[in-house]
Amino acid sequence: MKGIEREPLPGFRDFEPADCAQCNFIFNQWRSVAHTFGYEEFDGPIVEPLVLFTQKSGPEIVEQLFAFQDKGERAIALRPEMTPSLVRMVGKRLATLKRPTKWFNITEQFRYERPQKGRLRSFYQFNADIIGESSSAADAELIALAIATFQKFGLKKEHFHVRLSDRQLWVLWLKAFGVDQEQEVGALLGILDKWERRSPENIQEDLTASFKDSTKATLFLNTTEVLRKARTLDAIRECFHNCQPSSDMEALEQRLSEFKILLQELENLGVRDWVTLDLTIVRGLAYYTGFVFEVFESGDQGRALAGGGRYDHLFEKLVGQPMPAVGFAAGDVTLTDLLRKQTLFPSYQSAVDCYVVFEQTERQRALLLVQQLRAAGFSVLYSLDLQKDLGKQQKKAYADDPHYVITLTHELVSQAKTQIKGAESEQIVDLKSLLEYLKQ
Ligand code: HAM
Repeated sequence: MKGIEREPLPGFRDFEPADCAQCNFIFNQWRSVAHTFGYEEFDGPIVEPLVLFTQKSGPEIVEQLFAFQDKGERAIALRPEMTPSLVRMVGKRLATLKRPTKWFNITEQFRYERPQKGRLRSFYQFNADIIGESSSAADAELIALAIATFQKFGLKKEHFHVRLSDRQLWVLWLKAFGVDQEQEVGALLGILDKWERRSPENIQEDLTASFKDSTKATLFLNTTEVLRKARTLDAIRECFHNCQPSSDMEALEQRLSEFKILLQELENLGVRDWVTLDLTIVRGLAYYTGFVFEVFESGDQGRALAGGGRYDHLFEKLVGQPMPAVGFAAGDVTLTDLLRKQTLFPSYQSAVDCYVVFEQTERQRALLLVQQLRAAGFSVLYSLDLQKDLGKQQKKAYADDPHYVITLTHELVSQAKTQIKGAESEQIVDLKSLLEYLKQ
């Protein structure tokens, strides 16, 4: 007879105990770093009104939504990211908001993507956001937090790096080509975001469709290729000077000086060496307005470990009141791959502290002891088989490899004693002093 499908749905994972232990290890490290940076933990619903995501996250996320109607005929979606929920929640208390507010969250997200290496349909994210601070000191501290989360696992400079970019510089670049309407800017940022993954012919096609002018599209393509290779502020300045005589040089200089301040702050925080200036990062989400960044495994062309940036207009667009904000999220899928590759996960221990074995005549006394030990905080197992004799229980206990096997025979119990056997010792102790013995 055919049973039910044993595998989970495509892009979803089963977490057996050893996988769960790795996942919890990641969550604990994330939580611990977030606390050291003064973030408070928040949570929200796993489903949200569909419109929360269709409004401002951009076409990529909208295409990937797990969306359906509930029994009350509401259009809802499993959350694909946390940022819109955060804005909705914080939006309720903007008038009294502590500034800056620093919140973090560790939760499961759902995106209907093609499952592939580093990308699944369900994954966990660590989100950290600073709300109510427009200074680039907030961007810098957030990048320092992103770096610290990876360092916390023992990852070093040779393992990962941050690619830092700026949407405002891209907006200036587009303006120089006569593109300044929100919708057109959004469409071109979308093309820039996918640039790396598409052939020059396809990019040319997309650009021609956007500019409705193939000569302009070619000029844009060629000059943009040069700008994408710039890795210093001077190189960016030179690109604007050489490639785009119609650029707004005053606005450019203003933005470059803000960029310089951000780089200096990263230097002050001691993390500048992890960061490469790299305008090829544009970010797929539509709501970013300023500096954006992604974290990658060094020497790997795979998917990002983390990504984020400034989104100063999202509050106004979603909840009708302006509020500066900057944030990022790191995912567990690419991180797990990297930690496994670098053997940075602690080895999995399923062993309990104690296994209590007994002659069935002493069952009542033994179970009382089990519960006393558990109440004192020890992890304890015993045989659930009402018939199993002492010899069989011992065999099972040693196979489970607990730290101690505690034996209660009729003879020992009648003398108020028990036998305790550890890896290197075997002793008879008084039952009443057993707890003290274990605590030592
Ligand atoms: P995101 O770049 O879409 O940003 O996702 C952040 C991270 O989540 C990625 O770098 C990746 O590690 C992980 N991730 C995303 N999609 C998948 C997937 N399908 N499978 C596995 N991992 C995935 C955001 O979500 C923004 N909301 C971050 C943010 C917070 N911006 C401001 N605040």
